Amino acid sequence: MNAMPSFHAPDLDGAGAPAQLAVENLTLRYATHAALVTATENVSFSVRRGERFVLLGPSGCGKSSLLKSIGGFIAPASGRILVNGREVTGPGPDRMMVFQEFDQLMPWKTVLGNVMFPLVETRKFARRDEAEAHALATIAKVGLAKFAHSFPHELSGGMKQRAAIARALAMEPEALLMDEPFAALDALTRRTMQQELLKLWEELRFTLMFVTHSIEEAVRLAQRIILLSPHPGRIRDEFRTGADEAPAALERRIESLLFTDGGGI
Ligand SMILES: Nc1ncnc2c1ncn2[C@@H]1O[C@H](COP(=O)(O)OP(=O)(O)OP(=O)(O)O)[C@@H](O)[C@H]1O
Ligand SMILES: [Mg+2]
Repeated sequence: MNAMPSFHAPDLDGAGAPAQLAVENLTLRYATHAALVTATENVSFSVRRGERFVLLGPSGCGKSSLLKSIGGFIAPASGRILVNGREVTGPGPDRMMVFQEFDQLMPWKTVLGNVMFPLVETRKFARRDEAEAHALATIAKVGLAKFAHSFPHELSGGMKQRAAIARALAMEPEALLMDEPFAALDALTRRTMQQELLKLWEELRFTLMFVTHSIEEAVRLAQRIILLSPHPGRIRDEFRTGADEAPAALERRIESLLFTDGGGI
């Protein structure tokens, strides 16, 4: 027998605050030449404005698919996604994505050129000099002020990711969607980038939807974590980080759940 769908009220989060983002009974499928692959099945959750929300799950459980679907790049097989009550039907500047790959910047444009691109495309500012001032301020926020006129090939991996974050944040999106953006960095840089992301969030209070398969990273960054089961991804559990539980204890709790239940990470 099928489990009951885990349906949340579409416009309320667990705390009763209006949800900015609601994912309702979302099933995602890919049609390949060989088969129909179900990436996620009947996933429901909602995210509050300004929340730091992490999707945690093992490789292949559909985390990237979910995020791309929220980004408007993959249409649901069933279910729907709402942003401020409006159904997502395609990509939009209200949902900016940062990917894992270091090559997400346009190599023929400088850091400033990359950050300016969506600002100009969407005519976010009436005047180009206003757009440029805003782009430069955002570049400074991610610590790249001295590299605004550098090209991507002149930057380290961490710096490229900072530039990608600046490009996304400069658009002042409703939600920043991050798909394992620090996974390819060395451990020390990864840690620094996590701290910097938290600092940026403290200042700008954007809604963060972050995907990772690292329990440590999830606990460090999230206010709330949803754990997905292995392929196809279904919601398995939900955790809140908070003052009443040490991060290491929460990490152990998630680990032991995975260890006793199986599924891995
Ligand atoms: N373009 C595609 N065409 C066909 N199947 C796909 C496609 N993209 C993903 N899949 C399949 O959907 C499932 C979920 O993939 P997805 O990339 O969303 O997982 P993930 O949780 O992000 O994994 P990882 O942690 O390895 O990045 C996998 O079984 C994968 O093979
Ligand atoms: Mg992925």
